[in-house]
Amino acid sequence: MPKLTIIYGTGSGNTGRMAKAIEEGAKSARVEVTINKVDTANPADIENADAIAIGSATYIKAAMPSVIRYVKAMADQPLKGKVGAAFGSYGWSGEAANEISKLLEDYGMDVINPNLRIKRQPSSEGIEECINLGKQIAEKINK
Ligand SMILES: Cc1cc2nc3c(=O)[nH]c(=O)nc-3n(C[C@H](O)[C@H](O)[C@H](O)COP(=O)(O)O)c2cc1C
Repeated sequence: MPKLTIIYGTGSGNTGRMAKAIEEGAKSARVEVTINKVDTANPADIENADAIAIGSATYIKAAMPSVIRYVKAMADQPLKGKVGAAFGSYGWSGEAANEISKLLEDYGMDVINPNLRIKRQPSSEGIEECINLGKQIAEKINK
């Protein structure tokens, strides 16, 4: 089975809810998923992944430093051509997902555009958007 790894940073749980819905969408489309909060994630989580989705909430106009550190450390592994996706919950400006998309693009990844940003706690429509992102990733790596 193709593999998706989801790594996310969340302060109050909203980006975590997004991550779990992306997982649900991908699993429903027969993809193996590894999901980990950035605090407990390690570089091996992305080994053999066909797609990598990175999430972060926006705090003080930026992605969470722990998430940026993880993404920068990913540079040690081959990423070119792999599917990438960025997502995150935000309150008003929502810089985090854009920042992550840019880093993934710089690695030569095939990044899903636009990224997925949801204001505050995802509503049922928001959860549906996340499930659909999981399915969209699955479709790309199931080919
Ligand atoms: C101290 C603090 C700073 C924040 N700064 C921003 C910001 O600069 N831009 C923005 O869009 N949202 C900002 N937010 C709102 C959060 O991004 C929003 O509450 C989001 O839903 C948190 O996601 P999480 O539950 O995954 O941590 C801030 C929230 C707090 C508490």
